[in-house]
Amino acid sequence: IPPPSLYYPPFPGGQQVPLQTKNESWQFPKDFWYGVAGAAYQIEGAVKAEGRGPSIWDVLTHRVTNYIVTNDTGDVADNNYYQYKEDIARIAALGIKTYSFSISWSRILPFGSGTVNEAALAHYDDLIDTCHQYGVTPMATLYHWDLPLYLQNTYGGWLSDSIVADFTEYARIVFNRYHSKVHYWFTINEPIVFCGFYPLPQNYFKATTIPDVEQPYWCGHHALLAHSSAYRLGKSINSSLSISFKTNGGYKIPRTDSSADADAVQRAWAFNEAWFADPVFLTGDYPSLLKDFVSGFLPDFTSEQIAQINGSGDIFAHDAYTSDFVMAPDSGIAACVANSSNELYPGCYNTTKLYAGDYWAIGPAGDPGTPWLNKATDWVPVFLKYIQDTWKPRGGIAVSEFGISEPYEELRTSLPSILIDPLRSQYYVDYMQAILIALSEGVNVVGTLAWSIYDNLEWTSGYSVKFGIQYVNLTTQERYFKASAFEYVNIIEKYLEK
Ligand code: NOJ
Repeated sequence: IPPPSLYYPPFPGGQQVPLQTKNESWQFPKDFWYGVAGAAYQIEGAVKAEGRGPSIWDVLTHRVTNYIVTNDTGDVADNNYYQYKEDIARIAALGIKTYSFSISWSRILPFGSGTVNEAALAHYDDLIDTCHQYGVTPMATLYHWDLPLYLQNTYGGWLSDSIVADFTEYARIVFNRYHSKVHYWFTINEPIVFCGFYPLPQNYFKATTIPDVEQPYWCGHHALLAHSSAYRLGKSINSSLSISFKTNGGYKIPRTDSSADADAVQRAWAFNEAWFADPVFLTGDYPSLLKDFVSGFLPDFTSEQIAQINGSGDIFAHDAYTSDFVMAPDSGIAACVANSSNELYPGCYNTTKLYAGDYWAIGPAGDPGTPWLNKATDWVPVFLKYIQDTWKPRGGIAVSEFGISEPYEELRTSLPSILIDPLRSQYYVDYMQAILIALSEGVNVVGTLAWSIYDNLEWTSGYSVKFGIQYVNLTTQERYFKASAFEYVNIIEKYLEK
């Protein structure tokens, strides 16, 4: 891991990032929504309160030793279940217009289906009402990875098609309750992550006979069916709702000019964004490149299912944190395809990104000599244009998450040093400038959600990896704005159409 000095631009403590862009007449449109995001298990705590049932993350944090590197849990987290009013007031005070939160399925339905827990419904009622009181637009995600444990243990969760009916029923309860006061909905968060990158450890959950290599595709298949079923249902309850599916992934840049790397980039799109975006936005079915590579076990959709999935997305909601260099496999494509043990990257491409431990990069890792801190202005406008040209979303594009963890942030101990986060500040200013560029080039970007409202349980990395624009003292539960919180709002307000 390189020393911190390599990451930080010379940036004396407390100094603000300059806010001017290349063109002072660029603007965010008046109705551009800018906000912050969080997710239930990462922030709420109160895991035993008011009738909540267990989710798979209670098992992963409590029973699977070292699954979370620090053995942290979400038991208390940021205490948001009790402090949401203060949290909403704080973001409103900052000038933030939008709050994206997730609803905990196992609070609403402690066993995933069946008995409905009125206390949980009343909780989110009050959270949503509080947003409106403060002039903050609430946006709700139905599924941010905290699957009710009972569904995992009875039928294997997302690996079974039983999930589709249960998810739809959960969506029905939630849409019926809140459709008149929540306009923007995200059904499912980042399927490639929970389907592909967080394999559930054996022995703690119901055994499955589906081989590891096939599991991401069954899970993704059911996620698409569950999403589209909930989409159709939501529209039938209230046709004016905006309902989207949250995808994720970095912008893919060929490592060299070779045609082999250009082909690898196409496969990388297919195995990431296009796996879900082609069905929802283009065809109702998987991209042909994906089919070619995993034809042995990619499930088929029926023609009714294709019709249900096709067009089941309003805004293209993409979590766009960073970019990647993509390369053809060293062995060459024929050898890679022939190698049946190549399970991790069945699409036969490699990526490099500047990863230092669990930290994230702003841009792709380059050769020696390539600046490590590639600016968002270099890749965000092209990325968003690529999304618009490829998937043509009718509701425009939302950057539904973006953010950065600063290397070594957890080692800072004094409050002043914690609250000055130069790399994150620079990232937000660059990123919002990049959005201005994209807008000026005709890309219909409708909003941005900074990840995250505050530091929280970063899944397997526990609390040691921090993405917040606020710091939370986990002992006292006091919240503090970091410099980046102000930078994010300042640049938007400066360029917002008056
Ligand atoms: C995306 C996920 O939706 C969120 O839960 C996570 O904390 C951030 N990425 C950062 O890794």
